[in-house]
Amino acid sequence: MTGSKRDISRHTAVVGLQWGDEGKGKIVDVLTAQHDVIVRYNGGANAGHTVVVDGKKYALHLIPSGILNADKRCIIGNGVVVDPEKLIEEMDQLRARGIHVTGKNLRVSDRAHVVMPWHKEQDAALEEYMAAVTAGDRGSLAIGTTRRGIGPAYSDKVRRSTAIRMRDLLDPPYLRERLQVICKLRTAELHALGVNTDPLDPVALGDRYIAIGKQLAPYIGDTVYELHDAMARGDSILFEGANAALLDIDHGTYPYVTSSNCSSLGIPAGTGVPGRHLTRVIGIMKAYSTRVGGGPFPTELTCELGHKIRERGREYGTTTGRPRRCGWLDLVAVRYSVMLCGATSVACSLFDVLAGFEELKICVGYRLPNGSSTDRFIPDARGLENVQPIYETLPGWPEPEIAAGNRADLHPNARAYLDRIEAAIGIPIEMVGIGPDRKQTLVAECVS
Ligand code: IMP
Repeated sequence: MTGSKRDISRHTAVVGLQWGDEGKGKIVDVLTAQHDVIVRYNGGANAGHTVVVDGKKYALHLIPSGILNADKRCIIGNGVVVDPEKLIEEMDQLRARGIHVTGKNLRVSDRAHVVMPWHKEQDAALEEYMAAVTAGDRGSLAIGTTRRGIGPAYSDKVRRSTAIRMRDLLDPPYLRERLQVICKLRTAELHALGVNTDPLDPVALGDRYIAIGKQLAPYIGDTVYELHDAMARGDSILFEGANAALLDIDHGTYPYVTSSNCSSLGIPAGTGVPGRHLTRVIGIMKAYSTRVGGGPFPTELTCELGHKIRERGREYGTTTGRPRRCGWLDLVAVRYSVMLCGATSVACSLFDVLAGFEELKICVGYRLPNGSSTDRFIPDARGLENVQPIYETLPGWPEPEIAAGNRADLHPNARAYLDRIEAAIGIPIEMVGIGPDRKQTLVAECVS
């Protein structure tokens, strides 16, 4: 049945293997052509995809970048936390540029949790509070969040009694009843965090979110059944991860992580599709490493080299505009994420950024404080912050005079760099990104 409409290997997951911003949006955009439905399963407006199609740049935060391809259906799964005002803003922006967005090609889970205005206030207030608290010689306890209310929204999901889900926006009496209690509690909590806010007004908030519910009603539904119905019809599904494996709440560099399971392990819970359907998992890795926010980063370059990577890679956050911390490729970390995500192949993005360096380093192990070494990742901030990277040095390659048409055309040193990655992770590099445009991707058929 290989290649038939019902072949489950037609479903693909795309997941970031580092600390985010690996260029997943572009790869998802390339893969969209091969799939019928594109689904987000985690995170919220903390994620940011920049996709360039035909020279036009699109910055998306909540809506899967698959929306840019006409005739595809996009789903925001139950595992996502949705800021509905941001969602509407994004829909309007897309429409203004001629992109089709309707209740047919964009679906939002009725079970997805809502990011409310107070979640953003809580997020910022907690960060300020923690930034003021020193943690000995390790500096402040702030996470360096995107302040998009992600952590507080997921906290409420787990707390249950103070949560609001998308379906609640469609039920005015129920929403108003919940808001009465939540506003009282939340005002007190904000005051405790030092936020000098007027009491939250349940009536005004009720009016505002009931109006939003009316606007979004055509998009909201039971996306779990919708996905299973689609699979039963033989449609192929593309699962689009936001954030990345090393920011996974359970398996990342805790506590410097985001609040969802952003590795592929989050897919079953975040969409209602069992893991057995995930036979193709493409991990996306940058040819080097970046990180935004706080937390350990063993291969970070705080010198001129880091600056050079940042400028060449335009490493500034899509969501917050923050300059990203840059460093050498950490293969210990990538190999761990490949294992965790069950990646079956890899796409290596931003490869062009590394041209023009005299030599490049790749981290292949960590030296521990007791002098021993390991090639295993340490998914814990306190453990990871004390390691020293063990590097291999590889020769660099010059700027290409013309863009390579396939991997065989790359400079021998550039090919050797990719070969070294493959040898370490044990799975093939299926695509290599050599520029921001959709067309600037070397795909498997072309790979030597
Ligand atoms: P939060 O998700 O806003 O709570 O932020 C938690 C941590 O995850 C911070 O260090 C953020 O910078 C980081 N983070 C969240 N989303 C992304 C992303 O899409 N790319 C890079 N870092 C992210």
